[in-house]
Amino acid sequence: MSRHFTALLTLVCAAVTLAPASASATAKPPAEVDCTQVKCIALTFDDGPGKYAGALLDTLKKYDAKATFFLEGQYVKSRPAFAKRMAQEGHELGNHSYKHPNFTDLEAGAIRSEIKKTQDIIKQVTGVEPKLLRPPYGLSDVPTTEAATEFGLPIVLWTAGSRDWATKNEAAIKKQTLEVAKQDGIILMHDWVKQTVDAMPSIVKTLQSRGYHLVTVSTLIKQHNLQPGDVFPVPDGWT
Ligand code: NI
Repeated sequence: MSRHFTALLTLVCAAVTLAPASASATAKPPAEVDCTQVKCIALTFDDGPGKYAGALLDTLKKYDAKATFFLEGQYVKSRPAFAKRMAQEGHELGNHSYKHPNFTDLEAGAIRSEIKKTQDIIKQVTGVEPKLLRPPYGLSDVPTTEAATEFGLPIVLWTAGSRDWATKNEAAIKKQTLEVAKQDGIILMHDWVKQTVDAMPSIVKTLQSRGYHLVTVSTLIKQHNLQPGDVFPVPDGWT
């Protein structure tokens, strides 16, 4: 080994050794994506934590993608480790009721109870309190919006669905999702559908190659400054 090379190597090693220390001294949390400046989309997963949430979280982590999980309280109770991981890995947790009843069939008190039990179990398990409500089936009425207002929650639906629950077919889920994907879209999916989780690496890679930042719903809708009880987007049919 030449003397010059050894000297160079020493210098490189010194730089490598120093870099992490100086970086950590000045480290700041990464800036939040500004969806008024870049192309964003929000993938949302309902009814979980589902059985396949672990594999889904692995994929999201691998591609540095964020998602939003509208959780059912009953499954947060039965699968707490997944809910904790979702929160720890930077995903957003939303309230999707405790046992998935149709809110428009319930009295106001029962709606409040479904929302409150779910807020409580998510807070208890993850330390995070949901800031968004997605009522089961996307259905809301006046008692629902009043209850959402009481808990300080805007109601967030979706711009398009993957139809994963209907097709349960990996190729069909990928095709449908990529067809309906658009800037500032909110896509409805489910982490209890195995084929959705199987299709996710390919979906995420394709969306990122099209220039999308995969962000949480709160990051996506920040510009709209939604108030508790607001419904966004205004639904235009079943997907
Ligand atoms: Ni649901």
